[in-house]
Amino acid sequence: MAPASSAQEFSELVRSRRSTRDFLTTPIPQGLLEAVLADANTAPSWSNTQPYRLAIASGAVRDRLAAGLCERFDTATRAQQGGLLGKLKLLATRHGLPDGDFTTNFEYPEDLQPRRRATGHGLYELLGIGRKDHAARHQQMRKNFEFFGAPTAIFVFVHAGLREFSILDAGIFVQTLMLSAHAHGLATCAQGALATWGGPVRAEFDIPKDYKLICGISIGYASDHAVNQFNPGRHEAGALRLTA
Ligand SMILES: Cc1cc2nc3c(=O)[nH]c(=O)nc-3n(C[C@H](O)[C@H](O)[C@H](O)COP(=O)(O)O)c2cc1C
Repeated sequence: MAPASSAQEFSELVRSRRSTRDFLTTPIPQGLLEAVLADANTAPSWSNTQPYRLAIASGAVRDRLAAGLCERFDTATRAQQGGLLGKLKLLATRHGLPDGDFTTNFEYPEDLQPRRRATGHGLYELLGIGRKDHAARHQQMRKNFEFFGAPTAIFVFVHAGLREFSILDAGIFVQTLMLSAHAHGLATCAQGALATWGGPVRAEFDIPKDYKLICGISIGYASDHAVNQFNPGRHEAGALRLTA
């Protein structure tokens, strides 16, 4: 049984984790990354199937992936800005068209929109980016595909055969990984955006066909950029509870 005194440390650890969106280029020592992965590997899963796999990109592979993803992001953005003609060209060439396993661009349910908007606006406000400054918004969004400068990107794949439950298991795994990273002095950002294009990561890694790209995680050391202080807050805990 864990000692009672660790409960407070645990609370402090989980409460102080934040998504990091500006990293130092400092590489992660291999032993440190292995320690974090070993912790993450203790995550529970459906029948202990551990229905997830990781593609971990550092160094030249990381750089090639960032270049490939940014190129697709730029191509797709240009096509969208190019009106009907731009969209037709995107459809004809298919280059830049999302080729991920899951759709990352969808209408948000009405009841979730306010939180999504508040989070986006809060982030852009902190960065001094105006609501109509599309160029600056584009540049900020693009940073997702440069892994916010992190030296390592982890792509998370789930087994399609376990349906929704592999995604649930991967979520538990990802949070265990992010908390262990935080405890070891590393910073992370889980990124659904990194599931938009699967082609670049499939070209670099041997990924079994049953495994589908669900998200990425940028990992490294946080810079002291103000963006890393962004804390969008949460519902009051009571708001999570359904009334009887
Ligand atoms: C599954 C998942 C996907 C996410 N995708 C992105 C993303 O694509 N880009 C990004 O900047 N943040 C992304 N985030 C980070 C969330 O915006 C962040 O967790 C949320 O705003 C709460 O902030 P916090 O992590 O600092 O507590 C994602 C988080 C999760 C769990």
